[in-house]
Amino acid sequence: MSTSLPSKVNVLLIGGGGREHAIAWKLQQSSHLGQLWIQPSANAALQSMGRVCPEEISVKRAFFLKRWCEREEVSLVIIGPEGPLAEGLTDALASPNLRVFGPTQAGARLEFDKAFAKQMMRQASIPTADARAFTTMEQAVRYLTTREDPVVIKATGLCQGKGVVVCDTRDDALDAIERIMVKREFGDAGTTVLIEERLKGQELSVLALVDGSNIWVLDPCQDHKQVGEGDVGPNTGGMGAYSPTPLADEATMTIIHRDVLVPIVDALRREGVIFRGVLFAGIMLTAGGPKVLEFNCRFGDPETQAIMVRLQGDLVEILWACAGGELENIDLSFDPRHACCVAVCSGGYPGEFAKGRVIGGLESAAAAALEHESVMVFHAGTARNAAGELVTSGGRVLTVTALAASLSRAQALANEAAARISFEGAFFRRDIGHRVLAAL
Ligand code: AMP
Ligand code: GLY
Repeated sequence: MSTSLPSKVNVLLIGGGGREHAIAWKLQQSSHLGQLWIQPSANAALQSMGRVCPEEISVKRAFFLKRWCEREEVSLVIIGPEGPLAEGLTDALASPNLRVFGPTQAGARLEFDKAFAKQMMRQASIPTADARAFTTMEQAVRYLTTREDPVVIKATGLCQGKGVVVCDTRDDALDAIERIMVKREFGDAGTTVLIEERLKGQELSVLALVDGSNIWVLDPCQDHKQVGEGDVGPNTGGMGAYSPTPLADEATMTIIHRDVLVPIVDALRREGVIFRGVLFAGIMLTAGGPKVLEFNCRFGDPETQAIMVRLQGDLVEILWACAGGELENIDLSFDPRHACCVAVCSGGYPGEFAKGRVIGGLESAAAAALEHESVMVFHAGTARNAAGELVTSGGRVLTVTALAASLSRAQALANEAAARISFEGAFFRRDIGHRVLAAL
């Protein structure tokens, strides 16, 4: 155990979606959790898991937030989403009495500036797709006309997983560049575009806890980003994930650790950046070995919902140690069972969708598990209406996670549980894990 860990730690959890619900659920199992504080805009389930902070969290109010943390004796702040990390909330909260889990703005740049991330990868010889960055439509189009092979067009800023267009034809690519740079569908996130070589292979989400120098790799997951079954349609924030995955054997994980995680943490350190938090590498397993698609600087959503139910040990202790540079005191282990998580979404997502639809069936969903199994229904975009009813308030409404003896059983259980949830327009993918299940 970390020698500095107090017997009780008051924790402020920033973020209010499915990832944070899974984190809060795991925090509540810790004997070290004191008061848990939740952000006012968090979903309905999170609001009932702790006390709600007096005001919304923002970097602009960091001075007051810091004083408030002192008064309430909050000593650990856990930042879930990329937004506050990109805005520099970790930097703004820095103080001797407060540990912040999540990198500084300079570390978060790996995620919020894809062109910077590419440059760092190039410098550190990290395997990744070839890419060029452009700030004008003319240059981007000129470059595109010189390329024969399929490309991927990316807005370089933060777009909640939606600013990436995988193109089959040159017309698709031209259209994507126009949407990002001219129509500004992603706002300022599209000031610069990357035109990237399109890689082929299976995708892997590799998340690691990094305390500045130690890198503890979590059991890998596979996420399904496209909205439709069979991996068709536009990208979303993630329609489901499962863990563990047979795609990542020990040899592959050793390569990813050695050729991706260690060199990027070292490269950041050379730039003066001590990275503390989650380093999340989106990897494509290509015929030429693992290659990085992107880095994120936080837990994945919905990967976290599949990881937290398997992670053993005390999450307060783990994140406290990570934020304080003391991971060497921590052993990580995972429940050998398989987790499969499916996102139950509002009709129309990732495009326009309605809000305020009354949700039913949650208890019935949780009761779908047999002995030695479990089902957790994590809230993502939910709220209470004036009548106190649980209603939808986002594109991804709930993430249903099943834990069972095999991936196929976990998938079937997650599907059965998700089917018991009802709200107008609800839909989910029933094929999470299909690519490895087909191969097994
Ligand atoms: P990103 O946000 O960069 O991870 O991209 C979102 C998704 O787009 C990834 O999970 C992949 O499915 C796909 N993608 C991104 N980059 C590439 C690439 N270079 N080749 C093929 N697919 C890609
Ligand atoms: N599920 C992918 C992400 O969190 O970025």
